[in-house]
Amino acid sequence: MADPETPKPQPQAGEPGTIAVTVGEKSAAHATYQPEQTGAPPKLRVSHLSVTYIDRKGNRTEAVRDVSFDVYDKPQSGEVIVFLGPSGCGKSTILKAVAGLLPPTEGEVLVDGKPVTDVGRDRGMVFQAYTSFGWLTVRDNVEYGLRLQGMAKKKRREVSDKILQQVGLADFADRYPKDLSGGMKQRVAIARTLVNNPRVVLMDEPFGALDPQTRWGMQSLLLDVSRAENNTILFVTHDVSEAVYLADTIYVLSARPARILHQVDVPAFPVHDIALKSALEFRAVEKKLLDLIYAPK
Ligand SMILES: Nc1ncnc2c1ncn2[C@@H]1O[C@H](COP(=O)(O)OP(=O)(O)OP(=O)(O)O)[C@@H](O)[C@H]1O
Ligand SMILES: [Mg+2]
Repeated sequence: MADPETPKPQPQAGEPGTIAVTVGEKSAAHATYQPEQTGAPPKLRVSHLSVTYIDRKGNRTEAVRDVSFDVYDKPQSGEVIVFLGPSGCGKSTILKAVAGLLPPTEGEVLVDGKPVTDVGRDRGMVFQAYTSFGWLTVRDNVEYGLRLQGMAKKKRREVSDKILQQVGLADFADRYPKDLSGGMKQRVAIARTLVNNPRVVLMDEPFGALDPQTRWGMQSLLLDVSRAENNTILFVTHDVSEAVYLADTIYVLSARPARILHQVDVPAFPVHDIALKSALEFRAVEKKLLDLIYAPK
């Protein structure tokens, strides 16, 4: 039981564009999950997560209800978990709870067996809107987290050179975000998150505003980077094709409040290129998802 005298954890504003919010009063004050005695705890455990927002007038909006899933570490291969659900169902809320930007109303989030109570370097989030610092160059944006960690200038430069190359922005290192296209800005946001090599990367519809061609390029880039760096990525979208292309596992969510309706394990396709999207085995998974989404409730 939470001690009524204990102040509720305060929401954190961790990134530009983030707003602090108030959530329901039953915030979990104590962790209940204990790592198993044998074997490592899951890399990420979301256990009975529920979030209810309360606005200034006291109106309640139940956004997430009893969501539970585990992600285990898969060394030598990145892992992408996709949340697919209708607009307004609670997808961003799930990611923000995992990021530590808002405390659960009920349930808990654990990374490597440790309860999440705040934002932390083990988790990095790419937001729905572009969130680079406008007053810093592309390179300084990318190096921002490394500078906070106290990394020496020469090493920072090495690391930022590598990631800027990976996201195709090496020639734009000295430019400011205002001089970049939407897709390029989003690549800066992705680079500045991935460069810190967080255990868990949270991506909230990062490609939503991009044209199909740029979007496809970004999806391929993301898979390449996650495999190279062994990242676990939680990725939110309402695009079925994007979900199948990126995911190892897809959770299909209900309308608000978000609940997990279905888990779909996507087969490992032998090659990942644009031709895959019209391949029969790819279309079969898309169809399965569409059937699940549009099946009569
Ligand atoms: N800060 C807040 N205060 C009150 N209600 C909120 C707040 N943020 C979100 N909500 C409500 O919670 C519900 C879920 O919002 P959320 O942003 O998680 O949905 P979403 O699935 O990410 O939607 P979209 O696909 O449109 O981005 C919505 O009804 C929304 O109005
Ligand atoms: Mg959202």
